[in-house]
Amino acid sequence: MCGIIGIVGSKPVAGRLIDGLKRLEYRGYDSAGIAVIEETDGLSSLVRRRAKGKIVNLEERVKLEPVDGVLGIAHTRWATHGAVTETNAHPHFAGRVGIVHNGIIENFTELREALKETRTFNTQTDTEVVAHMIDEAMRAGMSGQEAFSHTLKQLRGAFAIGVVIDGVEGQMFTARKGPPLAIGIGDGENYIGSDAIALSTLSKKIIYLEEGDWAVLTADGVQVYDADDNPIEREITHITGSMAAAEKGNYRHFMLKEIYEQPETTAHTLTHYIDAFNHKVKTEDELGLKGLDFNRVERVSLIACGTAAYAAYVAKYWFEQLASLPCDVDVASEFRYRKPALSGNTLAIAVSQSGETADTLAALRYCKQNGLQTGVLVNVLSSTMAREADYAMPINAGPEIGVASTKAFTSQLTALLSLAITAGAQRGFIDAEAEKSLVESLTHIPRHINETLKLDGAIEELAQKLSTAKSAFYLGRGVHYPLALEGALKLKEISYIHAEGYAAGELKHGPIALIEEGTPVIVIAPSDELFEKTISNLQEVATRGANVILITDAKGAKYAKDMAPHIITCPDVSDITAPIIYAITIQLLAYHTAVHLGTDVDQPRNLAKSVTVE
Ligand code: M6R
Repeated sequence: MCGIIGIVGSKPVAGRLIDGLKRLEYRGYDSAGIAVIEETDGLSSLVRRRAKGKIVNLEERVKLEPVDGVLGIAHTRWATHGAVTETNAHPHFAGRVGIVHNGIIENFTELREALKETRTFNTQTDTEVVAHMIDEAMRAGMSGQEAFSHTLKQLRGAFAIGVVIDGVEGQMFTARKGPPLAIGIGDGENYIGSDAIALSTLSKKIIYLEEGDWAVLTADGVQVYDADDNPIEREITHITGSMAAAEKGNYRHFMLKEIYEQPETTAHTLTHYIDAFNHKVKTEDELGLKGLDFNRVERVSLIACGTAAYAAYVAKYWFEQLASLPCDVDVASEFRYRKPALSGNTLAIAVSQSGETADTLAALRYCKQNGLQTGVLVNVLSSTMAREADYAMPINAGPEIGVASTKAFTSQLTALLSLAITAGAQRGFIDAEAEKSLVESLTHIPRHINETLKLDGAIEELAQKLSTAKSAFYLGRGVHYPLALEGALKLKEISYIHAEGYAAGELKHGPIALIEEGTPVIVIAPSDELFEKTISNLQEVATRGANVILITDAKGAKYAKDMAPHIITCPDVSDITAPIIYAITIQLLAYHTAVHLGTDVDQPRNLAKSVTVE
């Protein structure tokens, strides 16, 4: 999604604004721009440079036509209203006002209509109208600050905004309703950013604006106001985590780095959820979930989008099997609009890497408003969801930069499995001996992932073959069915090859009609109690000419050696942790296929890392 960075200070800002935009690249964008207030011979003017496509295009532009000043804003745009053109790229100007905006102004058509007699609009964007409104209010006699706060009151929708005004020197205005907005505190300078990563080289002292807050920044200070314009103090968070995690290191792509980090990231997740020394999962109290008692919970409702939703689907099997706890999974964009029947003793858990996904956040708020206990399983603990849910359950995977989620997925699975065991133990469905054995399986996850990573070379060879396909299927049963869905999502989002995931037993109810000579079918089937059934489905497609890639273990490989031309043999692992370990193979397969096809792996087309619009 769009990214914002702004600096108000006393030193030149252009180069640093562009560096900040580079740190926001991971969010996905299709154009970029920068605006500064320049001073020449005592006269000030608002100037900007914008470019379609990658930030290097903007950099080139600024090299050819330099701009600089000590107050500026910059933006990466992910198009919502209006095509991907330089004209529609931010910052937008109206009169003396320059603005960058992330999100959607829902009532922009009516606001635009109201101004159409007096104003000329140059773009199709919802953002430009906000700049006009501020400028218009100043012409009517308001100060910059009054005009900004007056305009905010008229906006409906979800937005994070940064504004600079020519003639209102030394001040930057910002507001947040929906998408997050971080303010960085510096020494003789202050900053705004879409997230702390954008500000990581500038400031470690961050204020996260609350819903409805707005602020005025100068080089020397920051004043935050709440939605009713009352001056308010917001807590300063000291960012301690190493931002090295936001660097690629020796890896060709962030996605590959993040795939390889998984032995470590799942270990971090486990450290939070289990007491490995005593072979126990941590209780609700030990996890800091004071007031949560799985004995009183009658139903778990998991709500998420994309990869996080597939992690939730896997967890449904775990909550039901290990804790005998009914569990629903909902795609967040469907949840609140279907007006679900909610019962009082339901624990609603949003699953979200970013903690900012608009649909998941809306669903979480809906559950809260309807009186449910709410939790969020989240990677970014400073996120809106983490702050709003009753219980924040961290996955501790570290910053995930690749748009295709990998390490967050395995950490989500690891945390959800641990929680399902906690629930099972609390509710009396898992005795001490079973708990010990389950926890032992959990502790092997990092090592088993490490062993699975050794299959990288073999998977890369298979990926070369897969890269010539027009379309592919992924099949799985039980917990491996959602993994098949995730495998297909990974392949399509970064390689652009059409792929579908199916429950292995469902294929013959229609989609098998699409199988023809050479169609790649990736079958995920460890040698568990469902193995033989999945192998029957494998044979159904193999006899129709499918080019089968079987992902299994040594026992499964031996059994199926004459049935599948390609076999990826994973380490022997417990049935319960298998989806976490097998996830590595589908990630590597998608990654190498995409690399072979030469796509933009870390920032695939049309996608954004953090989807902060509905
Ligand atoms: O930040 P979230 O986990 O809420 O994001 C949810 C989805 O947008 C995300 O998982 C998306 O599907 C990824 N691109 C998948 O790789």
